[in-house]
Amino acid sequence: MTQSSAPAEELRTAMADQLVREGAIRSKQVEAAFRTVPRHEFAPEAPLVQAYAAHEAVPTKKNEHGITTSSVSAPDVQAMMLEQAEAQAGMRVGEIGSGGYNAALMAEIVGPAGSVVTVDIDPDVAGRARELLDATGYHGVRVVLADAEHGLPDTGTVDRWIVTVGAWDIPPAWTDQLAEDGRLVVPLRMRGLTRSVAFDRDGDRLVSRSSEVCGFVTMQGEGEHNARLLLIRGKEIGLRFDDGWPADPDALNGVFDTDRVEKWTGVTVAPAEPLKGMQMWLASALDGFCLMAVDPELDTGLVAPQNKRANITLLDGDSLAYLAIRRTADGAEFGVHGYGPNAEAVADTLVEELRKWDRDHRQDEPVIYAYPASTPEADLPAGRVITKRHRRIVISWPHEGQASKGTIDEKEK
Ligand SMILES: C[S@@+](CC[C@H](N)C(=O)[O-])C[C@H]1O[C@@H](n2cnc3c(N)ncnc32)[C@H](O)[C@@H]1O
Repeated sequence: MTQSSAPAEELRTAMADQLVREGAIRSKQVEAAFRTVPRHEFAPEAPLVQAYAAHEAVPTKKNEHGITTSSVSAPDVQAMMLEQAEAQAGMRVGEIGSGGYNAALMAEIVGPAGSVVTVDIDPDVAGRARELLDATGYHGVRVVLADAEHGLPDTGTVDRWIVTVGAWDIPPAWTDQLAEDGRLVVPLRMRGLTRSVAFDRDGDRLVSRSSEVCGFVTMQGEGEHNARLLLIRGKEIGLRFDDGWPADPDALNGVFDTDRVEKWTGVTVAPAEPLKGMQMWLASALDGFCLMAVDPELDTGLVAPQNKRANITLLDGDSLAYLAIRRTADGAEFGVHGYGPNAEAVADTLVEELRKWDRDHRQDEPVIYAYPASTPEADLPAGRVITKRHRRIVISWPHEGQASKGTIDEKEK
């Protein structure tokens, strides 16, 4: 379909204006890139309005189960990650996960003195990216077909990595190919929660500068790592574990046949207030942390979680408690629903940690560290330690004393 460029230009201007207004675009370089690159030419299958919708991704490939494996990511997420990266003119930038559009934005930002290389594991995606980049005049962007787990063949170091696919771990190649003062921006999954973390390199460790909520298609190839799902009540309710698979999953059979224990916390949130800090706090503080999902087609209404797709849940043996919410005059209040023989105690633990977040950490951002997996416990900063295949991730909260909050081994499954 031929699309006339006048409406595309208007829509592009409107999209950029909206991203600036909403604070996703903060710098002149990123703004100029969004005003320049013709996004619709990288998403020819989408109607113009969809191509320029500020919060919409355009899916470009699905697997045999109908699950999206590639897309042109949503503009607001791309802007957020480009701002986190703070790439400057003349830098060498590497992108993991291609599509063409984001690489073109990066090429605008680093300019002719810089360089952009993008790598994808899927030959269809890499081929399409090459074609679209050529068609739009971005001949200088290098497109490589490879599993990014092993970094970029025949390439030295880069000043910035932007990973545009959901990663569970940080392979050594990504730091080996990162300049001494370089930055890696990666959507990293920790205990089931994904955050786009901007990591600065500090010797052999990475230290976060910022972390933002995001969602991405998951990594394929050698670095693929799927969470495990425990289904209960037929398949109505699922519990998702990145780690901490229950010692006796059968102990949860019938847990929802017990009476519900309901507790309210007095902790309130304003409408549209972001909950990213609260979720990260609970993921750091609770040993039996997992995420609950309710199948919309099988939902009998028995459970009423705050979020039916990924709800914070605390598991302890044969009992569990999950996060609930109720409206108040000026917002909403968090509560907890507990089930099982030990419902009271599990619910109390979750209530206590919610109150602790409200009292001590509501204004805080955690610092996230990534150390080589061989780093001994004694050399790690205080915080929740998540041991993966290649790294030990530490989520560390300010004002939280010296004691470690505990260690979780995500790689042992
Ligand atoms: C969200 S898309 C990338 C979007 C793109 N950066 C854009 O311009 O909007 C994620 C891509 O990551 C790719 N991918 C998944 N696993 C990969 C791996 N191990 N190595 C390289 N690419 C991978 C997928 O094939 C998919 O095309």
